[in-house]
This record gives sequence, C-alpha cells and structure tokens, in this order.
Amino acid sequence: MRKKIVAGNWKMNKTFQEGVDLAIEIDKLYAESGDKNVKVIVTPPFTHIAEVNKVVNNDLISVAGQNCSTETSGAYTGEISAEMLWSAGADAVILGHSERREYFGETNEMLNTKVKKALEFNLTPIYCIGEVLAERESGKYFDVIKEQLQTVLFDLSVEDFSKVVLAYEPVWAIGTGKTATPAQAQEVHKFIRDLLKEKFGAAADNTSILYGGSCKPDNAKELFANPDIDGGLIGGASLKAADFMGIINAF
Ligand code: 13P
Repeated sequence: MRKKIVAGNWKMNKTFQEGVDLAIEIDKLYAESGDKNVKVIVTPPFTHIAEVNKVVNNDLISVAGQNCSTETSGAYTGEISAEMLWSAGADAVILGHSERREYFGETNEMLNTKVKKALEFNLTPIYCIGEVLAERESGKYFDVIKEQLQTVLFDLSVEDFSKVVLAYEPVWAIGTGKTATPAQAQEVHKFIRDLLKEKFGAAADNTSILYGGSCKPDNAKELFANPDIDGGLIGGASLKAADFMGIINAF
C-alpha cells in the first residue's frame, strides 16, 4: 500500500517565529483531527527546520528541506548539504521544484546527483516534475515528463527508487489559481506510474505520486479521489494552518 502524503512547501515565506507558530498550529490541529492515515510533511526555510522539528510530534508530522546541495561538504558558500538537513531533523527534501529549475538553473543532471546525495544521507527525495504552459499546449508534456524521470531516476537501483516520492506540478498551475482538472492530473499521474513500472516493476505500485499546483481545500477532494493521485504538494494553502488541514482532511 502506498502512503498518502500531504506536504506543505512554505517556499521563502515566514520569519522564524511565524514559522514556528504555524508549525505549532498545524501540529495542534492535526493532533485533534480524527483520522491520521495521512503522512504530513512541512517544509520550512532552512533556518527554521531544527526548531520546527522540536515543536511538532514527529510520529505524525515530518520536516523536510526545500533543496540540498549536489556536494557533500566543503567550500560552497551558501549551500546546504543533505547531511546538514538530516542533522537538523529533516527526513525528506524537495528536489527539482520548477522554481529551482527556472530561477536557479537546476538541470536534470544536477538533480540526478542531488537525489543520490539525499538518499546517501537518509532523506526521502520528493522529486518534482512538470511541464510549462507552452509544453502543455503543444502536446509535448509527456516527452518533457519522460525526460525528467529518465534522466534523474532511471539509474537508481530498485531499492533506492522505492524510497523516492514524486510530485507532479504542472508549472502553469503553480501559484496561478489555475488547477489542473482531476482528469488532467490523473492522466499524467498514470503516465508517470506506467513509465516507472516499465523500469522498476512492481515497486512503482508503492510510489506515492503527489499533485501540486493551486491545490486548495475546495478542490483537493476531487483530485485525491483519483487512483494514481496519492496526495498533494501544497504551496500557498500550506501557509494557513486551517487551509492546510482542510487539504489533509480531504482524504
Ligand atoms: P501553489 O499551491 O501555491 O500553487 O504552489 C504549489 C507548489 O509549488 C508546491 O511546491
């Protein structure tokens, strides 16, 4: 059985105290909620990780980083290593977010290295893929997604692959209020799973594939109802505890 996951990507939002307060609120609301069959992940900025990890119940909520370096350690000013994230209490890391690809020049080749670094230091890679609007409109989106998967994941062993979580985030849906329809999302999620099955066999049945892009409490239920959508990677709506909880409760 694959895990249902709802992960909040806070991006570059919240001061230290605001972030800690948000984590406390999420922790409280989730502790009070009835059903706890969802793995909840919060992804604060690096500076907040250790403290956020202290204020949440780690049996219910995990903490992740938003990126890590391709390098293990050394003279790389401004970089954060996978081992540093792990040592601060993170157990996962978002890799390949479209904002990293677009604004910081991250390539599939770099992401292949980052995924391996994350795995080396016991972090679950939450690997993001997705097409931009022009690729969707020209019908090239399957090719783009295939390349993002093949170049970054296909040289992993089945054992390592089975530790990876995927997030399909169509770039045109991120922060735009324009969500993919449940049918559009399911179509791509099934395509992803089929491709992963061809390469990794039955292990792909246990891979959680999250949807991201303007996912909100009022559309999460119809997205999560699809057979290959195993949860969400949430941006804007993860910054308010009640909205984030509304999405968690959509399962
Ligand atoms: P929004 O939910 O704000 O569209 O962001 C999605 C996202 O980029 C999560 O990583």
